[in-house]
Amino acid sequence: MSVTVSLSDLTARLEELEAEAAAAIAAAASAAELEELRVGLLGKKGRLSMVLGAMGQLPGPDRPVIGQRANLLKDQLSGLLSDRLAAVKAAAMAERIAGETLDVTAPCRYTPPGHRHPLISTIEEIVDIFCGLGYRVSEGPEIETDYYNFTALNIPEHHPARDMQDTFYLEDGRLLRTHTSPVQIRHLENNPPPVRVIAPGRVYRRDAVDATHSPVFHQVEVLAIDEGLDFSHLRGTVTAFLQAFFGDLPVRFRASYFPFTEPSAEVDVQWRGRWLEVMGCGMVDPAVLTGMGLDPERWSGFAAGLGVERFCMVRHGIDDIRRLYTSDLRFLEQF
Ligand code: DAH
Repeated sequence: MSVTVSLSDLTARLEELEAEAAAAIAAAASAAELEELRVGLLGKKGRLSMVLGAMGQLPGPDRPVIGQRANLLKDQLSGLLSDRLAAVKAAAMAERIAGETLDVTAPCRYTPPGHRHPLISTIEEIVDIFCGLGYRVSEGPEIETDYYNFTALNIPEHHPARDMQDTFYLEDGRLLRTHTSPVQIRHLENNPPPVRVIAPGRVYRRDAVDATHSPVFHQVEVLAIDEGLDFSHLRGTVTAFLQAFFGDLPVRFRASYFPFTEPSAEVDVQWRGRWLEVMGCGMVDPAVLTGMGLDPERWSGFAAGLGVERFCMVRHGIDDIRRLYTSDLRFLEQF
């Protein structure tokens, strides 16, 4: 076999390979490119293998010289490839991160959240206090019959409240409830005592609009029926409620009259030096209990009706009821 390569030939090839490979690796810009280079340089049919293949043509003593150099070069190129791969990956990651940057200091788009109307939050507060006293909420319709709104509440035939001047009547003889008291009757129809309920809701009266009157307003009705309830329970409950709502201020009960309670009272609180009437109340009239099929010798109870607007206006220092209904956001946003 003739010697076709010499030691210096192969040495030169290795040097050439080293220089070219180092430049190509340094220029590679992606993992795929590097993989292609690796196969081309160090793979089974790669350039280094070619040199090693030619090594067999060298005289015996020369072979280890080339073998050692080839191994060193292999290690060196592997090192260059993996360093470059790490650098290429890091660069790709850096580019991606730069592209996905969030500017957390950029101004956001503001959507105003909206909030409760002061009348609604007043009702919620009243309901919360009574729920804390063991009451639950009951509701009735705003369109009522004469029976629930008047008759069952012991309001006699010719009582002025029944007058067309005070009550909105519908053509079919029904009416818009003038108070939440009919819910007392509806609740007792379906729930045997003992009963402790409150009934918040809208009521209607033919009142001309002024600073303290509106044809639509809100009440919360209170009803407790049990064995052994007397006026002290009424007084204690009403006082506890008023103190929870207004804080510790003077409360007074004035004797009054309602057809559905006996005895009856109106309740005032002293607010900024003035006595303000905030609700009507009384012991449920035996005639109402009897009408509901309840024996007044066994069952007794008390009832109360609160004007929500009054509570809201006193609480927030609002001087004109119309402000609560005109939907003027400059006003409403204050609450
Ligand atoms: N229903 C009465 C009104 O609207 C208020 C009222 C007074 C309700 C006394 C009651 C009560 O439950 O006991 O004027």
